Amino acid sequence: MTPNALPGQPHVAYRGDQLFVEDCCLSELAERHGTPLFVYSKAAMLAALAAYQRGFAGRKAQICYAMKANSSLAVLQVFAQAGCGFDIVSGGELQRVLAAGGDPAKVIFSGVGKTRAEMREALAAGIACFNVESEAELEVLSEVAQAAGQKAPVSIRVNPNVDPKTHPYISTGLKGNKFGVAHERTLETYRRAAALPGLRVVGIDCHIGSQITETTPYLDAMDRVLDLVEAIEADGIPIHHIDFGGGLGIAYNGDQPPAADALWAQLLARLDARGFGDRQLMIEPGRSLVGNAGVCLTEVLYLKPGEQKNFCIVDAAMNDLPRPAMYEAFHQIVPLAPQAGTPTTYDVVGPICESGDWIGRERALSVAPGQRLAVLSAGAYCMSMASNYNTRGRAAEVLVDGSQAHLIRSRESAADTFRHEHLI
Ligand code: LLP
Repeated sequence: MTPNALPGQPHVAYRGDQLFVEDCCLSELAERHGTPLFVYSKAAMLAALAAYQRGFAGRKAQICYAMKANSSLAVLQVFAQAGCGFDIVSGGELQRVLAAGGDPAKVIFSGVGKTRAEMREALAAGIACFNVESEAELEVLSEVAQAAGQKAPVSIRVNPNVDPKTHPYISTGLKGNKFGVAHERTLETYRRAAALPGLRVVGIDCHIGSQITETTPYLDAMDRVLDLVEAIEADGIPIHHIDFGGGLGIAYNGDQPPAADALWAQLLARLDARGFGDRQLMIEPGRSLVGNAGVCLTEVLYLKPGEQKNFCIVDAAMNDLPRPAMYEAFHQIVPLAPQAGTPTTYDVVGPICESGDWIGRERALSVAPGQRLAVLSAGAYCMSMASNYNTRGRAAEVLVDGSQAHLIRSRESAADTFRHEHLI
């Protein structure tokens, strides 16, 4: 770790009075490409991946990056070149994998609402597995595969009814969620799958939520899944792979999630103890591979002191950084070039016409208009969830590799945002 690295983000560090990502000065990047600008560290992504790879050393395991976290082509390219497969949730994501040079044979397809067209596309591409989420989906997939003269490889997503202890909007493995097949219906659903002519049962999967910072929910889910594997196999249906989903959290604000290798050491010990240690494993990490590899640079437009609150109005907004508005998420905000002076407490907000358009509340900052800030931990679920609300073009993106800065996405123009629209 660089001596002045920011907590939780070893590849983002102050050198003298300037903030750097790897060997690139962020003020210079902002000058060259404008703001808002996402900047990612390739080394940070590969370091995060390496923790999983260490955890799985000597095991039959496939890491399928959950690309919904950040689906920019060059990001996918980095993971594809490092040997990752991909967890996709739409036909569009499949097309991105192919465009980025990913291997369709390492793709798994999750999601509760796959369309027939998406199923056909994925079958034609030869993906590894469909993670099926309901009995109705099994029937449709079997039909579609039969019509294509194929047998679709399937795994059934089970809902282990475990509380991941995270934000309700990103918790997925509880009874009240729309995801997966209820624990108690799993065996019947596997019997149905095994009987359908267009399907080939290959695995089982679960995913209990996102931004999980404790180990216990994973261990509990693991036990419940293994109970099911025992029951399904006792019924004569072999389960070739076990997919534990994603969900490992990152440090946004002093959170202390387990490191991926430490977490997997515990999960693998449990697998071994229960006699499943030689099974093919799959995992679907998203946030933990990219979240702390990215920052979003923004310029202060105006300071607006008020009776109750002071506002620091910046040029990034909820269309670029939707997580605070959607989940009241916390992202650290730091200056690119810290200034001396007594800090003032501000709500950092964007220009969008909504009170929900805030990026950080009650932050102590010493800033002036024209200065720039970095919103940290912005590598996951920011650009991939960005919108054009208020006819704001989406930000540009730069991928840093040592001292090289690659522009991986150009800034969207206003004309780009309405190029598919038609006057009557
Ligand atoms: N697998 C499945 C089936 C998923 O639904 C997800 C995320 C993942 C894997 C990856 O989870 P991760 O490792 O990234 O936690 N937009 C929200 C997060 C939504 C997560 C949706 N599913 C946020 O910004 O916090």
